[in-house]
Amino acid sequence: MKKIIVAALCSVFSLHCYAADSVSHASAPKGSSVKEITNIDAVTSASIVPKQLRKPIVQTGFTDGSAKKVLFVVGDPRLDSSLEGFLVATAAEFFKKKGYEVEVRDLYKIGFNPVLTAENFYHAKDGFGKTPDDIKPEQALVSKADYIIFCYPNWHDSPNAITKGYMERVFSKQFAYRDTPKGLEGMLKGKGVYTIMNAGWLGGGQGDVGDGIGKLDKVWDKYLGAYKVVDDDTAGFWGTANLGRFVNDQSPSNTDPQYAQKLKALGELLDQHLQRDFFQRPEKK
Ligand SMILES: Cc1cc2nc3c(=O)[nH]c(=O)nc-3n(C[C@H](O)[C@H](O)[C@H](O)COP(=O)(O)O)c2cc1C
Repeated sequence: MKKIIVAALCSVFSLHCYAADSVSHASAPKGSSVKEITNIDAVTSASIVPKQLRKPIVQTGFTDGSAKKVLFVVGDPRLDSSLEGFLVATAAEFFKKKGYEVEVRDLYKIGFNPVLTAENFYHAKDGFGKTPDDIKPEQALVSKADYIIFCYPNWHDSPNAITKGYMERVFSKQFAYRDTPKGLEGMLKGKGVYTIMNAGWLGGGQGDVGDGIGKLDKVWDKYLGAYKVVDDDTAGFWGTANLGRFVNDQSPSNTDPQYAQKLKALGELLDQHLQRDFFQRPEKK
């Protein structure tokens, strides 16, 4: 009996993988090593964008010109094939079409070291000593940027380690904030920060607080409200405006025959949210 159950389970699993293959073409050939079995994502919440639907992340780089500048700080080990990567490519395209300059820091690709070591601790905390060599170019980019967009998949409800490390090491004291007789003061005034985060389960919404889809909206608003508290606080600390988040909690599974349509709709929705969050913000009184 046991053997029959195991055999049945195996065949169900291989059917799933086969179905995933036929839609995503993302799986490795038979006999591949575990490292190459990418189609396992088809049976978890992470989806793989089929090759023919992927778009490259195109950047212009920053010039000394007067065009507005958007810095994408991206932490995703599967950027080429992930939905997060698709969202980054879509957002970069959106700002380029607006005539903005776009710079993308792919933290895994550049091998960014996110660890705040004992040696550099007092630099980050108090601004003491020399700025570490690997942090100088990052601070130069942040200084030039009008907007900084943090992009990462949701791993345990916070910026993932590589992105969080960027925040800790690059946004150091005497660069992002300083002491004044009145207390701490943010030094990055006039800039805006935003987050683009793909998620696995936060109540099913797409966007920010109030952007639930009519099911589990209380759950969605609870999660997104919690992120807003943290984002407002961090942005305020640096003196920047918090422009909010685009969180996607509606990933099509790789077995979805409507994957292409759903991906297109996701891209269009992100465009609408960027338009709303960056260009239709209510004036501050
Ligand atoms: C280590 C890890 C932790 C995760 N934790 C959460 C979580 O706390 N909440 C959540 O909504 N999704 C969580 N997920 C699911 C991912 O957010 C989801 O798979 C991801 O957004 C898929 O996006 P991608 O295909 O762009 O990588 C986690 C995934 C991983 C790998």
